[in-house]
Amino acid sequence: MNDAKVIAIYTTKGGVGKTTTAIHLADALTTRGSKVSLIDADERAMLTEAVMGSPENMPFPVHFLENPSGGDDPQAAQRLVGEMIDKIDEASDGFDYVIIDCGGYNSQASFAAAAIADLTIIPANAGRFDLVQTEEVYAKIQTIAKQMERKPKIKVLVTRVNLATNVYSGFMSALKAKGIEAFKNSIPTYAAISEASFMGSSIFKHRPNSQAAGFMQRFVDEAIATITAEDK
Ligand SMILES: Nc1ncnc2c1ncn2[C@@H]1O[C@H](COP(=O)(O)OP(=O)(O)O)[C@@H](O)[C@H]1O
Ligand SMILES: [Mg+2]
Repeated sequence: MNDAKVIAIYTTKGGVGKTTTAIHLADALTTRGSKVSLIDADERAMLTEAVMGSPENMPFPVHFLENPSGGDDPQAAQRLVGEMIDKIDEASDGFDYVIIDCGGYNSQASFAAAAIADLTIIPANAGRFDLVQTEEVYAKIQTIAKQMERKPKIKVLVTRVNLATNVYSGFMSALKAKGIEAFKNSIPTYAAISEASFMGSSIFKHRPNSQAAGFMQRFVDEAIATITAEDK
């Protein structure tokens, strides 16, 4: 592998904001002058559809990886993990960043991607079930990373949230109490963000001066600072 930094975006729940996060990171890193390639590791291929549908907005190469859940067959799981590693290698060649958008289901290959990434982002909405599920995903990535002798930085991104609620503050404190790191910059629910993805764009292009773009920018800055920070 070359020196490309790998960012994996994974949780086992769908509809939380994984693809949206992938697109905004890719857009912001490209604007800063980095070369970014994407891996779509969701069977539903929403990222591929978005990028292919808007090549002028999203000029990133996208590599599609067949990444079914794999079921209980350990041989199939091992093969899928191998394919994921090969795909990361392929996508890294000549690029500064590889961003992997995973599907919202259990997949050994996605867990492996999360374990070998430099930065793994677990998007979560603030809710009761989200906490249990985020905790499980976080623990499983840690276990697999240990097995693979990797040390990814793992952070939860709270998205599609109402910041003014006790549910939000309770969710953040619960993560902290469990020793799970979260981005300080969460992303609130904004119609403009769903509009942007509907139009095959990012909030930075759709409404660059909006509050929503400000929140997204602060998150992206925090993510880039996390990935470029020296290991302690
Ligand atoms: N902060 C947000 N505010 C409003 N809508 C959002 C926000 N983040 C994502 N969405 C919308 O929610 C839906 C699911 O998001 P998506 O990123 O596709 O989730 P996932 O990839 O986890 O399934 C999309 O229609 C997207 O536009
Ligand atoms: Mg998605």
